[in-house]
Amino acid sequence: MERSTQFGSSQQLTRRQLIRRTLAIGVALSSSASLLAACGGGAQPTPTPAPQAAQTPAAAAEDKLEIFSWWTNPGEADGLAALFEIFKQRRPGVEIINATVAGGAGTNAKAVLVTRMQGGNPPDSFQVHAGQELIGTWVVAGKMEPINDLFEQEGWSKVMPKTLLDQISYKGEFFSVPVNIHRSNMLWYNKKVFADNGLEPPKTLDDFFAVAEKLKAAGVTPLSVGGKDKFEVPHLFEDLLLAVFGPADYTKLFSEPSLWESDPRVDEAIEVLDRFLSFANEDRSALSWADAAQRVIDGTAAMTIMGDWAYGYFINKGAKAGEVFGWAPSPGTDGMFMWLSDSFGLPKGAPHRNNAIEWLKVCGSREGQDAFNPKKGSIPARTDPDRSVYDEYLLYSIDRFAQDALAPSVVHGAAANEAYMTEYGNALNVFSASRDKKQVKSMLIEAARELKT
Ligand code: GAL
Repeated sequence: MERSTQFGSSQQLTRRQLIRRTLAIGVALSSSASLLAACGGGAQPTPTPAPQAAQTPAAAAEDKLEIFSWWTNPGEADGLAALFEIFKQRRPGVEIINATVAGGAGTNAKAVLVTRMQGGNPPDSFQVHAGQELIGTWVVAGKMEPINDLFEQEGWSKVMPKTLLDQISYKGEFFSVPVNIHRSNMLWYNKKVFADNGLEPPKTLDDFFAVAEKLKAAGVTPLSVGGKDKFEVPHLFEDLLLAVFGPADYTKLFSEPSLWESDPRVDEAIEVLDRFLSFANEDRSALSWADAAQRVIDGTAAMTIMGDWAYGYFINKGAKAGEVFGWAPSPGTDGMFMWLSDSFGLPKGAPHRNNAIEWLKVCGSREGQDAFNPKKGSIPARTDPDRSVYDEYLLYSIDRFAQDALAPSVVHGAAANEAYMTEYGNALNVFSASRDKKQVKSMLIEAARELKT
């Protein structure tokens, strides 16, 4: 796996070639699915036994469970461990293989997963975002088992919001179990730095620039941004797009690709990003999202804009909400909730299928979600949580999700297909180093060709 930290033009070409290769693998997966469908004389999915039909004595003897994810950081790793604990209580003799590939937003993990799936070596279950990342990459390619019977048996469709159920279904069948909902558009700030400088968290984009100027004058880095895992600047941009376009028009950007060329608000959002980056640390290509968040609780930077897995990170680090750090919607997005959801599915050919099904039951259970989410910094995918186990930020987030205007995250798999997301991300990472507005605009227009209308 190539890990570049610079964005020189020759290196950029190499990265672009790498993306093309990765996409080619994705296309190969989709083509083999079409081929299978064609051989079967239609678009019928390959028949698979219902999940619970696998409870045979042979299956019961399975002694392992391999779970694949990118949850290695404080907070997210704690949430995963909490799910494992529940699984262990239910299947005491089973050894859990915690197959993690580090790298925020799964940039590295997703490439490894493609190789494993293509090589016929799937894990028993893997982390995948609800939405196009699940459907476009794996379901349409015929790589996942439908799990309708499990949904029926566990009553999940009655306790999960329709918005979410729509993102995990294809042609009337369910394909993964959502374990949470994260919010992408959050601003986290250092309470003391703000108090010392007599500042309030910025509500609008203009507020942000005013606050950032004051912080800069006071010698504090206003905005802490990562870049090591190649999703951090693309993530910041989706939140700024939301601020500039509002939820309805932001969402249209992914169904009407011509808007990237015709709508002047794209230029406005690029301009805003450029200004945001002028208030950010310059060493971002060396920093993960967690490193960037750490600077906020250390007080060496004032703010970071990141999904609420940062909240899980902060509480793991012992930083007290309301004392060490505070939160607000990212500037210009009050009343808007950019959502994404982590889920787990059942790949065809899972070596320990029976254990995988038990794992999915844990993921979808109230017990599992109420153990996982308070540590992860996310809210449950279920609408019937035990609210007493969630703290102030998470209760706020549960209520915001119920009331705010929702918009799907592009960087975290909900809004668009993987091919688009890769090209979009590449454009923003090039911009992070070059700050060439004309170039990023044309790269974003080119990326939009990957959007299927
Ligand atoms: C997101 C994922 C989160 C968190 C984050 C940082 O894509 O949905 O659960 O892991 O990446 O890696």
